[in-house]
Amino acid sequence: MAEQEMNFFHGDVDLDIIKKVKEAVSIPVIGNGNIVDGKSAKEMFEKTGCDAIMIGRASNGNPWIFNNIIKYLEDGTEILKPDNEEIKKTILRHLEMLSDFEGKEVALLEMRKHIAWYTKGMPGASAIRNEINQITDYDKLVNKIKEIC
Ligand SMILES: Cc1cc2nc3c(=O)[nH]c(=O)nc-3n(C[C@H](O)[C@H](O)[C@H](O)COP(=O)(O)O)c2cc1C
Repeated sequence: MAEQEMNFFHGDVDLDIIKKVKEAVSIPVIGNGNIVDGKSAKEMFEKTGCDAIMIGRASNGNPWIFNNIIKYLEDGTEILKPDNEEIKKTILRHLEMLSDFEGKEVALLEMRKHIAWYTKGMPGASAIRNEINQITDYDKLVNKIKEIC
């Protein structure tokens, strides 16, 4: 995507504009922008009156966010972060599904950014990222993922 285009997607969400859109149209409105957890999801619903929400960046490396938000909206509780074993299983499943979809070579390259997101905040995350980025063989990548978490 060109840099100029990317700039359209910067900045904070304006809930008031979404509210005005919701009031002006008779079709369902999906609220999106800066939703990162249950609290911000609830705020989007309450302040805009939107019919549904969409989550972009906060789901990178965090597919658990969807269930977590549903739970928060249901009863106000926050689910704990998944442990390393769960993260590892999810990365391996993600890699396998991506590989079925796009082939092993493309999946290997695409998974580099996803693994960086999944491992963000883990001890040694930057070293892990460096190692992963050197790997050009699919099976080696699988073995490395099994080692890291
Ligand atoms: C890197 C990047 C690329 C995006 N590309 C598009 C795009 O091609 N078309 C589009 O409608 N929105 C695009 N968006 C906007 C997202 O769909 C979304 O509206 C925005 O990221 C705000 O939601 P979020 O805070 O949940 O990420 C892009 C956002 C980012 C960060």
